[in-house]
Amino acid sequence: MQMANTVISVSNRLPVAIKNGELTKSSGGLVAALEGLPKEHYEQKWIGWPGAEITDKKEQKQIGRKLADEYGCIPVFLGKEEAAGFYEGFSNSSIWPLLHYLPNYLRYEPEWWEDYRKVNQTFANKVLEIAKDGDLVWVHDYQLMLLPAILRAEAPNLRIGFFLHTPFPAPQVFRFHPCCRELVAGMLGANRIGFHAFNYLRHFSGAVRRLLRIETELTQISRDGHTTALGVYPIGINASKFEETMDSEEFRQRRDEFRRAHEGKRLVISVERMDYTKGIPHRLEAIDDFLTKWEQIDKIRFIFVSVPSRENIEEYQHLVEEVESRIGQLNGKYATLLNSPIHFIHGSIPFVDLCALYALADVALVTPLIDGMNLVAKEFIACQRENAGLLILSEFAGAAEELFNARFVNPYDSDAVAAALIDALSTPVDQRRSGIQAMRERVIRYDAQHWARSFIEDLASDPVDDAGIGKTNIKEANDQLRRAIEGGQKIVLFLDYDGTLREIEVEPSAATPNLAIETLLRRLEQQPNLDVTILSGRSETDLEAFFGSFSFRLIAEHGASWRQPGKKAWKRPDHSLKYAWKEKLLPILRVYEQTTPGSMVEEKPSAIAWHYRKADEEFGGWKANRLTQELSALAANQPIKVRHGKKMVEVNAAEINKGTAVARVLELLPDYGVAICAGDDLTDEGMFELTLPRLLTIKVGSGSTQARFRIADPAAFREFLGDLFK
Ligand code: UDP
Ligand code: G6P
Repeated sequence: MQMANTVISVSNRLPVAIKNGELTKSSGGLVAALEGLPKEHYEQKWIGWPGAEITDKKEQKQIGRKLADEYGCIPVFLGKEEAAGFYEGFSNSSIWPLLHYLPNYLRYEPEWWEDYRKVNQTFANKVLEIAKDGDLVWVHDYQLMLLPAILRAEAPNLRIGFFLHTPFPAPQVFRFHPCCRELVAGMLGANRIGFHAFNYLRHFSGAVRRLLRIETELTQISRDGHTTALGVYPIGINASKFEETMDSEEFRQRRDEFRRAHEGKRLVISVERMDYTKGIPHRLEAIDDFLTKWEQIDKIRFIFVSVPSRENIEEYQHLVEEVESRIGQLNGKYATLLNSPIHFIHGSIPFVDLCALYALADVALVTPLIDGMNLVAKEFIACQRENAGLLILSEFAGAAEELFNARFVNPYDSDAVAAALIDALSTPVDQRRSGIQAMRERVIRYDAQHWARSFIEDLASDPVDDAGIGKTNIKEANDQLRRAIEGGQKIVLFLDYDGTLREIEVEPSAATPNLAIETLLRRLEQQPNLDVTILSGRSETDLEAFFGSFSFRLIAEHGASWRQPGKKAWKRPDHSLKYAWKEKLLPILRVYEQTTPGSMVEEKPSAIAWHYRKADEEFGGWKANRLTQELSALAANQPIKVRHGKKMVEVNAAEINKGTAVARVLELLPDYGVAICAGDDLTDEGMFELTLPRLLTIKVGSGSTQARFRIADPAAFREFLGDLFK
């Protein structure tokens, strides 16, 4: 494997922030994860926003130099207005709520989209300034969803990774976003996209199918010759930092201080950013319920550490008011002379204190409504080195997939959360210990460094740009043809149309030949020793309308109807064929048409077809499989063939297929030097299966095939022909 030696991480926030003119290094998970990449393999750079508005060019330069020299960071400076539209507006008021299944929080203003695009372009410009061919660029999170596609367009030789740190919701939810298509297409510019959980990957893939109508495989998506690999990489914590801190004297001191301060009390902790996704009001409901049932109110203490977040956004301001007032009420309701049950810190606490708190707690109550991963749950487990606390975890946190011994709760069900709390606090220590130790081992083993390494190693072995999938061998076809042309041999060319010469359109009537195709075909017409057949599933009428003025051989309906070169009339060579089966099968297709919105039946003289390209992707595909099965069972004793092609199921006479048509043409041209068959879908496989001499078969696009050569897409195929026949 070839190791690239530079990783350029790009995230909205730099790991170093400017606060009151001072630079302070962040200790977040991402920083730790990237610090863990082996230095001998990767040189690292980091591009991002330093978190403060700096307009003075001289100052920008000074800070830029300091960041680069001391931290390997390159700042992207943003103007106040555009930063607001990009960050508070588009990123956190429109994308964030939808990624977390909370459309009620969605707000959208068209100007935000402009800012988001502009800022993504600004980030791209910075990357392009410093990146070299072959570098790995790792883009992080929803604030930069357009960046991969911008970079791909401008620098196709970069290896671009994208990691989404949040959930990706069901496509029906993401669809609420007015720019959903652009955002999904933006991410697809990456060579590899990472998610925390398989569910998010599956939803993203569904969004690509439904919103962009691009076919996907389980872990890869190919289009226009570019492949995006999808993978699941659950992020871990900076385990060694937690271990080292817990070994320190300072930690022991703080832990003992806290222990004394909360002497005799069971501690239940909740740590999070003050965000509506974290389910704080729902949790307070559960605590209210719990406190009505728990008899020893003097002996229980809830500690809430809520780190202020996105404070300029109205919804976040309302949340703070709501939480503060609810905690006030609860403390009033349940306070005794000895205890006030909820201890609320609206601020962040030093790392060593956080470790001490995690280590001392009896229970961590982690109940987000939904969360991409939730590192707090893992950090709590890591710090339970001596203690045997219990983790109550929302089943909707990504971490729930890994922390198998946690007590899972539905955060919306406050009764159940209260019951889980009572149960947790009543569980004997020896029963808790083995559960937490097993999870602890996992959290320590699969830490943040492990996460970064596995993503980066996969990205490093992804192909840089596969704009020519199959370019590995198409050159051989090219050489062979060139020799035949130079040797004055006769070349016979069989060209499928839709998906081969012309890009597929949702509406087939829109896929008329464009100027590029017409010019190419005129050129082919001028070639000596070249015999061209256009061979399609389309009707005579379509082929006549598209290619009537060319002197080529035209074959319609997969071989049922022919127009010989230079002739005007269309003929059906198989007069003897009977089509009685059409009457019998048509009603079945009509039932599918009626019960599958967006689908339609097409009747042709020699075939009947059911098209579902406008139907729901998954439902249409499922119905198509059923129809294929149903028709194939009926076809067993009939002279017919059922084909499941691209977004259609077609039944036609068994004798009629493109392979038979090609063989028949070549019988008429026994002196041919080389014959080429090019096609893109299952109906073309009949040509690819032929075992005739000197036959070159070319598949256009992705998917399994019997063809010997492959070329990325219609544009690449046209270029291939254009190069050969100048
Ligand atoms: N955290 C922090 N300061 C604090 C409390 C917590 O930096 O005072 C950290 C915590 O250790 C964790 C992160 O904030 O690493 C929160 O990450 P998480 O994945 O739980 O949620 P997110 O904020 O990414 O939604
Ligand atoms: C989540 C997001 C991150 C973001 C972090 C803090 O973890 O996935 O991209 O950086 O929250 O939010 P903030 O808006 O302060 O950067």
